Amino acid sequence: MPAVRVQKHEAEKVKNLLKKLNLYDGKRRPRREETTVLLPVISSPELRKLGFEVVDVELPFRPERQIYKNLEDILAEKLTREELAYLGRYDIIGDIAIVQIPEELEHKLEEIINALLIVHPFLKVIVKRGFHKGDFRVRDYEIIWGERRLTTIHKENGVKIKVDLGRVFFNPRMKGERYRLAQLVQDGERILLMFAGVLPYALVIARFKNVEITAIELNEDAVKLGLENVELNRNKLKGKIKVIHGDVFEVVPKLGTFDRVISPTPKGVDALGLALNKAEKWVHYYDFVHEDKFDEFKRRIEEECQRLGKRCEVRIKKISDYKPHVYKVCADIRLI
Ligand SMILES: C[S@@+](CC[C@H](N)C(=O)[O-])C[C@H]1O[C@@H](n2cnc3c(N)ncnc32)[C@H](O)[C@@H]1O
Repeated sequence: MPAVRVQKHEAEKVKNLLKKLNLYDGKRRPRREETTVLLPVISSPELRKLGFEVVDVELPFRPERQIYKNLEDILAEKLTREELAYLGRYDIIGDIAIVQIPEELEHKLEEIINALLIVHPFLKVIVKRGFHKGDFRVRDYEIIWGERRLTTIHKENGVKIKVDLGRVFFNPRMKGERYRLAQLVQDGERILLMFAGVLPYALVIARFKNVEITAIELNEDAVKLGLENVELNRNKLKGKIKVIHGDVFEVVPKLGTFDRVISPTPKGVDALGLALNKAEKWVHYYDFVHEDKFDEFKRRIEEECQRLGKRCEVRIKKISDYKPHVYKVCADIRLI
């Protein structure tokens, strides 16, 4: 993505100028070099006309704005402390806000909706979040304000992701994790993505790296949306994505091996042996693990590697809270 290289002592002045010209890309962070600074910019022929040195470089995206605090501030006047505590974290997917409204807060629904609309004036739909259900891990949603739809286009890590929340799984909170994986991947890799959903991992990795990804997904709606998403991002992707509609446990055994296998495993499914079997160098295996059982999880991976005649180094990374004392984790497994 484009950036302009400027001398350190000029960086602040140039940044202000770029902001004035609407050419500065505030979503990414600048990077300091020895004597210069790389300032993220929006692609425009104007930059070269202005005499800037434009380079193509990956500057990391800033973390999501701390928007929740603003909502809390607005609601502090309308809700009691106890009521505020009931309001969990909320998500924004495209122009849809997803909130958790426990019974204790039902009587304050209008205040919560109004506050959300102040903080996020672009919203078109607000939904109440239910639970994930079935093999496809689709959530239940109840539309409580706005247009009667659950489809939207979400933007993350420089890609557009079309979702239909009534038919497919999608978790915007994994944005940072997808960026992390994209940075670990090297150009030229062949990657197997199991349980691919609407392809958020595949799109973000292919956005940054010239790789060949084979993605497997069982939910036909997710496969259709995934293929639409590849088209939607066609001119941004450095890598190639091939999608196979089918059951991971039937399709994968028939495939060859890959440099890297990624398994955003659905809750309650065990695909560890399969993932390890098909990987030559790396596996990223997601699971839900109690804080007392991290060592046990690591041992299980090492034993499974041994069973397959492989040696491995395992690092368990906490990704998010799942419920008290239980975390969603990613095992980064290096095969040696
Ligand atoms: C936890 S979601 C992850 C989806 C996607 N990777 C993401 O992060 O948005 C798990 C996905 O696996 C799919 N799935 C469940 N069982 C499957 C199976 N046996 N074979 C292929 N896909 C499956 C579900 O439909 C769902 O899209």
